[in-house]
Amino acid sequence: MSEKLALVTGGSRGIGAAVAKELAQAGYDVVITYAGNEEAANKTVDEIKSTGVESAAYKFDVSNNEETVRVVNEIIEKYGRVDVLVNNAGITRDGLFMRMNKDNWDAVINTNLSGAYNVTQPIVKIMMKQRNGVIINMASIVGVYGNAGQANYAAAKAGIIGFTKSLAKELASRNIRVNAIAPGFISTDMTKGLDSEKIAEHIPLKRLGQPEDIAKTVKFLCEEGTYITGQVIQVDGGLTV
Ligand SMILES: NC(=O)c1ccc[n+]([C@@H]2O[C@H](COP(=O)([O-])OP(=O)(O)OC[C@H]3O[C@@H](n4cnc5c(N)ncnc54)[C@H](OP(=O)(O)O)[C@@H]3O)[C@@H](O)[C@H]2O)c1
Repeated sequence: MSEKLALVTGGSRGIGAAVAKELAQAGYDVVITYAGNEEAANKTVDEIKSTGVESAAYKFDVSNNEETVRVVNEIIEKYGRVDVLVNNAGITRDGLFMRMNKDNWDAVINTNLSGAYNVTQPIVKIMMKQRNGVIINMASIVGVYGNAGQANYAAAKAGIIGFTKSLAKELASRNIRVNAIAPGFISTDMTKGLDSEKIAEHIPLKRLGQPEDIAKTVKFLCEEGTYITGQVIQVDGGLTV
């Protein structure tokens, strides 16, 4: 076993899988979590293990407080420490607000915002005991600037940014750094229905981001950014400049 453990929620595919593999390359044992896609989770675990570190996948719904706290405590018990937490699990349920039903509002808030609360609570306890830790929350540029058709998602991601800044202030004295990353358009299952060529025309770097672009930023915040806390790092190819 390695001396450091990273926990990546929603690590089965997309950005989370790339983050998990990048942290494995940096020498972390990596636990990933997922909601239901067991095949993708197992594939990511195999890829992580092939880099020579330990890995395992745990299935739970981050929006379910009881289930999440139970499984996260099992993980803490098994590994004895958590050095890095990446709150990455997320969903979209897009639609204009006029027609946005309560189920679609609740699903996004409960997963993207309350999910981070559910996972982070038990982990902060062990990080405080360790007097060491890094927490990275996956926000979105939509949480900073808003987006028509994503009132639920923007509200959750703006909430994540406030959560990040508040935790950074609360936990700094325990040597725990808390930052958010706000990706622009990244090529994953979440964005596969969009017209990527048309979107790329509006991005100064003229391409959508790849999950690895986000993963490298996570690694930087964990390993190099030792004096950075409470920040929102926009990784968007210049879209919001
Ligand atoms: N892609 C973008 O352009 C973009 C831009 C800005 C921000 N983000 C944010 O980046 C994060 C990752 O996005 P992505 O594009 O990589 O998404 P994705 O490809 O759709 O993957 C979502 C991941 O979250 C997991 N997940 C979803 N609901 C969950 C739940 N209730 N409980 C536990 N796990 C759950 C999924 O597990 P299963 O595989 O089991 O379904 C999967 O691992 C999200 O927070 C998203 O909001 C993405």
